[in-house]
Amino acid sequence: MKVGQQHFRSIWVADGKVRVIDQTRLPHEFTPVALETLDQAATAIRDMWVRGAPLIGATAAYGIAIAMDSDPSDAGLRRAVDLLMATRPTAVNLQWALEGMEVHLAILPPAERFQAAMIRAAAIADDDAAMNEAIGTHGLAIIEAIAARKAGPVNVLTHCNAGWLATVDWGTATAPIYKAHAAGIPLHVWVDETRPRNQGAHLTAWEMASHGIPHTLIVDNAGGHLMQRGEVDMVIVGTDRTTARGDVCNKIGTYLKALAAHDNGVPFYVALPSPTIDWRVQDGLAEIPIEERSGDEVSLVQGKLADGTVARLRISPEATPAANPAFDVTPARLVTGLITERGIAPASAEGLAALFPERAVR
Ligand code: MRU
Repeated sequence: MKVGQQHFRSIWVADGKVRVIDQTRLPHEFTPVALETLDQAATAIRDMWVRGAPLIGATAAYGIAIAMDSDPSDAGLRRAVDLLMATRPTAVNLQWALEGMEVHLAILPPAERFQAAMIRAAAIADDDAAMNEAIGTHGLAIIEAIAARKAGPVNVLTHCNAGWLATVDWGTATAPIYKAHAAGIPLHVWVDETRPRNQGAHLTAWEMASHGIPHTLIVDNAGGHLMQRGEVDMVIVGTDRTTARGDVCNKIGTYLKALAAHDNGVPFYVALPSPTIDWRVQDGLAEIPIEERSGDEVSLVQGKLADGTVARLRISPEATPAANPAFDVTPARLVTGLITERGIAPASAEGLAALFPERAVR
């Protein structure tokens, strides 16, 4: 996607170095940074310079490549996989990318591992961009159908950031939005701010503004009210892990949006590339590990002061503890459809198995 006139991906290689955008600085500063060591790659994921399930996977793959440059031994490979695997627990793309890299590299002589790892990480990144573009094409058909039966813009509500910054390119939830905008379909996006880290306010709003897509920032609690008033035509969100039977784990607050959408007859879609499907688990509530992050993310809010400096401000008493579960699970029954690179599946074991027969466990 473009930033100004220049096309960027969220992760790329230039002058032999892996580069990412430090997303903790957006929307106030656009700051590319080079990842030069394994520890830096792990910190980038853990501290959320990069975030979003597909980008976490791609960064982990490049993290392995960076590690292979300095220590391509079996022990070096094991250490790198273990360190990166421990960075964030919920997005299954991390596990998927690391397991794939390990299987691919373990059978090679150490001297060949660095180059092979760079090639495979690049393939993971390219595949992600291609899958998301295909998601955009399938999702566009849904937006077109809504546009055909109403006057005025199609109102889409999205939660967190499942945009190009969360993937390698295009985004998942935003790919249909970008395609619809390019096709000239009038649309307007309700952007949930997404407390506590405000990925909606900081990142999705920045993406929409950069692309000239009409959008409005809302507090997380406004969605239900807007749906009751008929001001939301569809919801599209991303996911960090979707189970084989279609339960959807995504950013905290997604479940409440799904409940409100269900109560108001608003279609609730989840956009995901297939590496986000965890074929090994069925029951999202029982089986998906939910990341608990620091309570500081709840008690302190980051923003720009009038003098231009970016600061973190405390909003609660020092003595008040804060809990910070980062994800929740939306049961499959509340999901209208799963928009994948192969098409739109009902959120069910049968629906996913029909699109991915080679992966489904029988
Ligand atoms: O904690 P984050 O910012 O990594 O959470 C991101 C999300 O919840 C996204 O919706 C999800 O990863 C899908 S990204 C295409």
